[in-house]
Amino acid sequence: MNAHAKPMPATASKSPALAGQVRVPGDKSISHRSLMLGGLASGETRITGLLEGEDVLRTGDAMRAMGARITRQGSEWIVTGTGNGCLLEPEAPLDFGNAGTGSRLTMGLVGPYEMTTRFIGDASLSKRPMGRVLDPLRQMGVQVLEAGAGDRMPLTLRGPRHAAPITYRVPMPSAQVKSAVLLAGLNARGVTTVIEPVKTRDHTEKMLAGFGAAIEVETPADGERHIRVEGQGRLAGQVIAVPGDPSSAAFPLVAALIVPGSDVVIENVLMNESRTGLVTTLIEMGADISFENRRDTGGEEVADLRVRASELAGVVVPPERAPSMIDEYPVLAVAAAFAKGETKMLGLDELRVKESDRLAAVARGLEANGVDCEEGADTLVVRGRPDGKGIGGGTVETHLDHRIAMAFLVMGLAAEKPVTIDDRAMIATSFPEFLTLMTGLGAEIA
Ligand code: S3P
Repeated sequence: MNAHAKPMPATASKSPALAGQVRVPGDKSISHRSLMLGGLASGETRITGLLEGEDVLRTGDAMRAMGARITRQGSEWIVTGTGNGCLLEPEAPLDFGNAGTGSRLTMGLVGPYEMTTRFIGDASLSKRPMGRVLDPLRQMGVQVLEAGAGDRMPLTLRGPRHAAPITYRVPMPSAQVKSAVLLAGLNARGVTTVIEPVKTRDHTEKMLAGFGAAIEVETPADGERHIRVEGQGRLAGQVIAVPGDPSSAAFPLVAALIVPGSDVVIENVLMNESRTGLVTTLIEMGADISFENRRDTGGEEVADLRVRASELAGVVVPPERAPSMIDEYPVLAVAAAFAKGETKMLGLDELRVKESDRLAAVARGLEANGVDCEEGADTLVVRGRPDGKGIGGGTVETHLDHRIAMAFLVMGLAAEKPVTIDDRAMIATSFPEFLTLMTGLGAEIA
């Protein structure tokens, strides 16, 4: 992605009932981890359903630069790993583009190696805090040779001769920080322990176990999860079927709820309970969502979601639900704009450090389109209009943030007046098929 490329605006307009059966691309979190763990493990990993978005492809490039072989054969990705502990020093900086997950997890993965690795990214990624990952890595003996002000990218890491295993209590609810420490622990002799006071998405733990790492998870009575991984063990290549991304499914799902008369099926969506906060919230708001064909694929539950247009009512979304729907607040705010009464979202501090300050970006986007809302330090209140009257007519600044772009295009489908976004380019980072998929359902987006 060239940050200096000419912006490509897009406009969504009031659409007829959406109808059809669709599949969203593979889960972004699992796709990143499949390439990383596959690239690290001994032998071959075969992946189907991989998200071929720019963020994930950057992770693939980084793993290749450190010695993994990654090729696409038909619909399958074949990864031949280096073996745990055997990554090579990359010859050039690793460019992660817009990808927070790719860059932070890779910092964990390579930080403890006795080699020099430089991390670069786009304007959005270069503004995001990396200290949350660098702090535990420093405790393991990793040197940060160079970093932007406030521990930002571009930055350069150099690992010690022998990394020290640590016990680390994650100070904020972040799966990226948890995962970075666990991945770093793979290359430290002994047991690395992560204490997670609030459960976040658990893909790293589950997948590490699947690749054969010695890992255990214990949840004592106080609810804090203790995750222990033994370093320097062997990882073995796996066969992985990546389920559909619930964070991408969220867009056609909310669109079907707010465009009158819609009836849409979204197939093969990951139902891991650490990811289903949005669906829980929408059902509380009165959404008609049914789960068909619930099944297990590769250790994860998936289902086909049948979604029919619904009359929604405002609710209070409790702060403890935030980790299970952290990427879904922008599109929830759009659903709330069409709900009766007030929706209060609490505990949103982590939204301030996403691809953009998402709390501010959502509030400005709602205001620009005539929606009554209040932005607090870590809260958002939206007062909706079920008939969509008066909504729309504005242009939304997306701040290099794919989810802001997609959420506001969804808003335009049910609004009285069209909604324009300033740039659609970043959608390709997580959901390259978004426009085709949505227009295939009947959405008017141009
Ligand atoms: C992710 C964790 C979340 C999420 C991101 C993907 C992951 O970030 O927002 O899109 O794959 O671990 P945080 O860990 O910063 O909450």
